[in-house]
Amino acid sequence: MTASRTTVDLERAPTGSTAPERATGVGGVPRLRVGVVVGSTRPGRLGESVAQWVYDIARRRPDAEFELIDLRTYELPFLDEPLPPSVGQHAKAHTRAWAEKIASLDAFVFVTPEYNHGTSAVLKNALDFLYAEWNNKAAGFVSYGSSGGVRAVEQLRLVMGELQVADVRAQVALSLFTDFEGFRSLRPDPSKEKALGTLLDQLIAWGSALRALRNPVGTLAATAP
Ligand SMILES: Cc1cc2nc3c(=O)[nH]c(=O)nc-3n(C[C@H](O)[C@H](O)[C@H](O)COP(=O)(O)O)c2cc1C
Repeated sequence: MTASRTTVDLERAPTGSTAPERATGVGGVPRLRVGVVVGSTRPGRLGESVAQWVYDIARRRPDAEFELIDLRTYELPFLDEPLPPSVGQHAKAHTRAWAEKIASLDAFVFVTPEYNHGTSAVLKNALDFLYAEWNNKAAGFVSYGSSGGVRAVEQLRLVMGELQVADVRAQVALSLFTDFEGFRSLRPDPSKEKALGTLLDQLIAWGSALRALRNPVGTLAATAP
């Protein structure tokens, strides 16, 4: 299965940098790379505008690089790998494409809807496909729903523990009643942008601290000029 971009809005996102182009931060250490994952693939999804809002704010920051990750792009079927992901042998091309993308990132903002008080099946499935690629990374959550999608996030926090992902405390919960006009157009209360800033601060701090576990000893030193 090939990866193809399917939405106009997300075309505006950079496709992600490859190693030689990768921007460096202080002391030649690569800037943290953060994926903003769109957790809904539904036609007419609100998740796309929420993820775009997160991305547009996040990309102004100088302390990390951000990339929109649209699950539509990866076209993952329901988990169809013969071996558990923790074994690390990905048999299918779609799994390898997904694994390559996730392995290239240091931290994630998961943008999740709330379906029947849980996260979306498509996001849970995408999480289940991989294991080591998630380990020792950081995550934060932006949710939306009639109660801000908070129940979906509580569920995701349990999943993060098993995937060895450090999930930050700060989160953004967007209300369908007060943060969307007519339940469709995203018009977040200004307090939500502030909350997103706190989330990103915590995410970048933890994602950076966990580099020591993600990189074998000496890797960081080797990247310094
Ligand atoms: C299958 C399904 C279940 C839903 N369950 C909930 C729910 O439990 N809580 C809630 O706040 N909204 C629920 N909703 C409404 C969603 O919050 C709303 O449809 C939202 O737009 C979904 O995100 P999306 O448009 O990005 O897919 C549900 C919607 C669907 C399609």
